[in-house]
Amino acid sequence: MKHTSGKFISLEGMDGAGKSTHIPSIILQLQQRGVEVVSTREPGGTALGEKLREILLHEPMHPETEAMLMFSARREHIAQVIQPALARGAYVLTDRFSDATYAYQCGAKGVAAEKIMQLEQWVQMGLQPDLTLLFDVPPEVSLQRLSTARAPDKFEREGLAFFEQLRSSYLQRAAQFPQRFRVIDANQPLEKVKVLVADIIATI
Ligand code: TYD
Repeated sequence: MKHTSGKFISLEGMDGAGKSTHIPSIILQLQQRGVEVVSTREPGGTALGEKLREILLHEPMHPETEAMLMFSARREHIAQVIQPALARGAYVLTDRFSDATYAYQCGAKGVAAEKIMQLEQWVQMGLQPDLTLLFDVPPEVSLQRLSTARAPDKFEREGLAFFEQLRSSYLQRAAQFPQRFRVIDANQPLEKVKVLVADIIATI
């Protein structure tokens, strides 16, 4: 499944890395070019996907069940939102995509990479982001930020070892796919991170 006209951008990073904070300014920056921007998220992005999100974020379940539900939501998301938007030439900005499944369900929760790869091939049929911004912070910073934020979901209640796994899985993905990943040092003042993000978005 290839797209020719639009651009597909994903934002990744562990909880507390601050990725979501940058969404409004990225949307604005892209809109200033006169292109249509579709901003969405995973798990979620469709009515069914948002229902699955509620279950995924709050119900305990086997990590493989979690991986399969993530990809079920993703299948719907691609069919209903992402693919049609890219086909009409829009820029799609998604808060997380399948790199999150590799980091969370595979890296941190131990689902075999081979199984995730099979689901990925089935569901995405070659569709990958053109650009992935990875917001990288040390796990301690993430945990510190989360401790002062709103009530945590089940992923946000995990401990330091989980977050260390997440970070190294994400960095591994970035090293594996350097052509689409940009790693952003998000452990600095917000204004500095904003400038880094804007510079990268300007290149796509
Ligand atoms: P998140 O994107 O951090 O949203 P919010 O900022 O509202 O908390 O929450 C989504 C959670 O889902 C996050 O903890 C990571 C997890 N997740 C996975 O474990 N696997 C996936 O494939 C995706 C897309 C998300």
